[in-house]
Amino acid sequence: MDRITFHHDTVLSDMHMLLPNARHLMTRLNSVGQPVFISKFKILSVGERPDGDDPDKGVPEAGGGHKRKEEDKKVRKDIQSQDGEEGGEGDEEPFLDEDGDLHITHRPRRNFTEGSGRDLVCPIILQQADPEREPEEEQSEDEEDQAFHDILKIEHTMATTLEDVGKQVWRGAFFLADFILSSADLFRGATVLELGAGTGLTSIVVATICKTTFCTDVGEDLLSMCKKNVTLNRHLTEAAGGDARVRQLDWLQYDLCTDADVEFSWTEEEVEDLYSNTEIIIAADVIYDDDLTDGLFRTLYRLCSSFSHSCSIFISIERRMNFTLRNMDVSCDAYKHFSRCLSQLQALQDGRCSFTVERLPADFSQFFLYERIEQLELWKVTSTPLPSERPPPGSACCSSVNNEPPPHVTIQSSC
Ligand SMILES: C[S@@+](CC[C@H](N)C(=O)[O-])C[C@H]1O[C@@H](n2cnc3c(N)ncnc32)[C@H](O)[C@@H]1O
Repeated sequence: MDRITFHHDTVLSDMHMLLPNARHLMTRLNSVGQPVFISKFKILSVGERPDGDDPDKGVPEAGGGHKRKEEDKKVRKDIQSQDGEEGGEGDEEPFLDEDGDLHITHRPRRNFTEGSGRDLVCPIILQQADPEREPEEEQSEDEEDQAFHDILKIEHTMATTLEDVGKQVWRGAFFLADFILSSADLFRGATVLELGAGTGLTSIVVATICKTTFCTDVGEDLLSMCKKNVTLNRHLTEAAGGDARVRQLDWLQYDLCTDADVEFSWTEEEVEDLYSNTEIIIAADVIYDDDLTDGLFRTLYRLCSSFSHSCSIFISIERRMNFTLRNMDVSCDAYKHFSRCLSQLQALQDGRCSFTVERLPADFSQFFLYERIEQLELWKVTSTPLPSERPPPGSACCSSVNNEPPPHVTIQSSC
């Protein structure tokens, strides 16, 4: 096997595509036989940031920003010319024949393996992990990496089915990470819960600032990869005094697993810490399936209505437009459903807590290199406990996620 096979239901994150000249080295096969890759993502210094010389985004930078833009332009030009979009063979003008029919000459399909910096749009496995390689060699490479405090090393897979999307890194993870790094004071010293953390990239970033991070998702395989990433980047989080724990939290389950024999289960102390101290919840690119969105909102409601303190929830979302036969148009149904859920949460009157919703401006600095497309949005939901009928901290209702909304709350069934 030297190439990833794409099926009709395969999805590939933009983060793993179109990296000019980037070669992807598979490091191993995971326990379900998927090739695992390691990517290094740099936290850009001020001069390196794409917005470093944008007068609208803070202080102009000397040199670096312009250079980056010139490089970006060159890269874009290279990609376009590789695709035959500029001056290539596909530039023939369409013409009308004598009957008035429009004839379009199709651009010949490129053979991607010929002469491009990036041989294929899909990743090529160039080299498998070397079984002959001494563990000391690997260790010394890890040690070298650890000397850099601006490099995140992330294990991930590429081109998965929808069930396994969490094993890829998504643009929304960087967008939210940018917000976190831009608003560090907000996160300093806090207990943060990430829902749907995937590879754990955003949790790792927040753990460089906050006190405790509960990095949660579902599935043993995914959580193992996430834990590996937390370990790979431990030098970044520990230097900042942050504690990142990978735990299972399924939006479709009512309870947190506290069975000590189960991996990624919660200790009683952690559950107590979660309910007593979580002031911030984050979630990146988790809106893509209406049933899961319902589960996510139920989870948010259950958690926040059990807190005796207010909580800020930050959700990054990428609006993905699709053509649907149902609408006979391009639309983003998942986004519409998300908007309905936000409205319901805001209108909720359960006597326990109130919710406010706002969309935050996306003008914060860019700390990672990715395309900051306009479809990326950041939403903030604030939950505030109402003074009466609140359970005292530490009561039974505060130590379990099994806190059902009262019957008149419609989130559960029709959000
Ligand atoms: C598109 S991925 C985003 C991953 C990561 N936040 C990122 O942006 O790179 C969506 C995430 O939601 C998680 N997810 C899906 N269903 C879930 C559930 N029932 N409970 C918890 N997490 C879930 C997936 O496992 C996946 O990690």
